Amino acid sequence: TGTAAATAETEHLGGEAVVAAAAEKLCTSADSEVSSRKKTFSEVQAERKEQAKRMVLINCPVKMSEKKFLQYLSLHGKIENHFFYESFGTFAVVEFSNGDSIASLQDATSIQRFRDEYPIPFKTRHFTLTLKKLSRQPDDQRLLHHHKQSTIPTSDLLQKLCRANNVSDQLNMVMDECQLTEENTKLRFLTCSLIQDIVGAYFPDSTVKPFGSSVNSFGRLGCDLDIFLDLDETKGDNTRRKTGHINMEYQMKRASSERIATQKILSVVSECIDNFGPGCVGVQKILNARVPLVKFSHQPSGFQCDLTANNRIAIRSSELLYIYGNLDSRVRALVFGVRCWDRERKITSRIPGPWITNFSLTMMVLFFLQKRNPPIIPTLGQLKNLAGAGDNHIIDGHDCTFVSDLNKIKPTENTETLDVLLNDFLEYFGNFDFSKNSINLRTGKMQNKPESSPLFIQNPFEQTLNISKNVDQTQVKRFVTLARDSAWILQQGEKGPSSHSSQPWGMAAILLAATTNDGGKSKTAARVQKSARIKNLLDSLTFNLNTQKRTFGTQ
Ligand code: GTP
Ligand code: MG
Repeated sequence: TGTAAATAETEHLGGEAVVAAAAEKLCTSADSEVSSRKKTFSEVQAERKEQAKRMVLINCPVKMSEKKFLQYLSLHGKIENHFFYESFGTFAVVEFSNGDSIASLQDATSIQRFRDEYPIPFKTRHFTLTLKKLSRQPDDQRLLHHHKQSTIPTSDLLQKLCRANNVSDQLNMVMDECQLTEENTKLRFLTCSLIQDIVGAYFPDSTVKPFGSSVNSFGRLGCDLDIFLDLDETKGDNTRRKTGHINMEYQMKRASSERIATQKILSVVSECIDNFGPGCVGVQKILNARVPLVKFSHQPSGFQCDLTANNRIAIRSSELLYIYGNLDSRVRALVFGVRCWDRERKITSRIPGPWITNFSLTMMVLFFLQKRNPPIIPTLGQLKNLAGAGDNHIIDGHDCTFVSDLNKIKPTENTETLDVLLNDFLEYFGNFDFSKNSINLRTGKMQNKPESSPLFIQNPFEQTLNISKNVDQTQVKRFVTLARDSAWILQQGEKGPSSHSSQPWGMAAILLAATTNDGGKSKTAARVQKSARIKNLLDSLTFNLNTQKRTFGTQ
């Protein structure tokens, strides 16, 4: 277990670790001041990024002595933290206290030789640990505790949900089971850091950071890893260097547009990842999309990665969602609940196509929470009014300004329970006139649709764009039918666990397609769903013919 791991580590480090732990407890008043206030998005990102630089990834034998493993690695420096997980094999993530330990470990590491293959000697922070025959002492080798990297099976989740006290508890349970763990988040930052090592060979000043659901507080175990290659630092600060009478500028190759420059860079980066990145497979360049990207699988972490560059607005979206997710505990619970419901009822899909995306759904939940009386979260306009001097962001002419300090935002006075909110969310969108109205998070108001897309959710930053332009009429109808059907199931069914009924209730009932005795209503829903699935399949086949446009090309 984790406790055993911690004990092994403490045992090894002896008195030093105990003293360090005691010192940590006696934190200074400055520390407690920081811990009592909510950290900004940038602060969290910077901390995690720095932490990831001190981490290594190690393929391990399935059975080994954790104590000896830590003893060996401690020869290179103090270990801050470590954990094991299972992917294509057993892996350890080890965080050293000091980044210099990594160079020491690399110095002591040899290059694997194979009979039929030749290694490309690009040295990374990804190692393989093997046990020498003599050190294989069976008594000392145990199966390692693996930290979970995926969600529990739906059947287990349903059983758990049936044991909850009320729908609010159920929503919190869904969130607890699905949300990213601390270890999974660390692994996401480490993966970005490993990619940064590859890109850094060409662009040492660039940074590689996660965005999207890995960092916006709505990430689910198993979600993709959206990676942003930030080259802005590389371009340098021109004003700073223009001093005196002499001006020095770099000689550089030029491209006829920023888009073409991005495409060229991503093309080379994708080749490097493909050729030099251990465990990076299935590298695909999708450079003609609206936002050019490189897709690949990072096998050791199990992450499906989407790498983009110059996508700074998406980073602001991630920060905006992070702010909303950290303002009130009900926000994340409702988003996780709704997304789980939509995943189980096949409203959302992993395959790109005309379905409603998780991003759009999250926006719909946030809009709904802005419309409560009193509102549970502020509008983007209100967040802009709270912005301080450092919060001004104009990106490619788009106003992306909003407050970054969460502590400046007044908590809501709304005390509605999640039971009420889930039910009202389903009723609200079950009766929403999607044919006329669009959703606008900037104003928190419905507006007439500026064009005829079946679902129109205004992009909060690029305000003329619709983030759900890919969604077709069939999907909107399915969503509305399911929302009505599920609201009905919630209202008819049990409000809590009942000893005389084995029927799933609340969240469990709406996750299942046709479980409740609802006078045939769910059967109708199931029929609608079945025919919709066939149509979806056909739509998906057509849609996939145009893969170049598939990720962002729809808006
Ligand atoms: P999951 O990966 O489904 O868990 O959610 P996600 O929020 O990460 O969505 P996705 O991977 O599809 O996209 C990553 C990020 O890109 C999102 O969080 C948004 O910031 C941004 N994004 C995705 N789709 C759109 C879109 O249609 N329009 C805009 N403007 N941004 C988008
Ligand atoms: Mg994502």
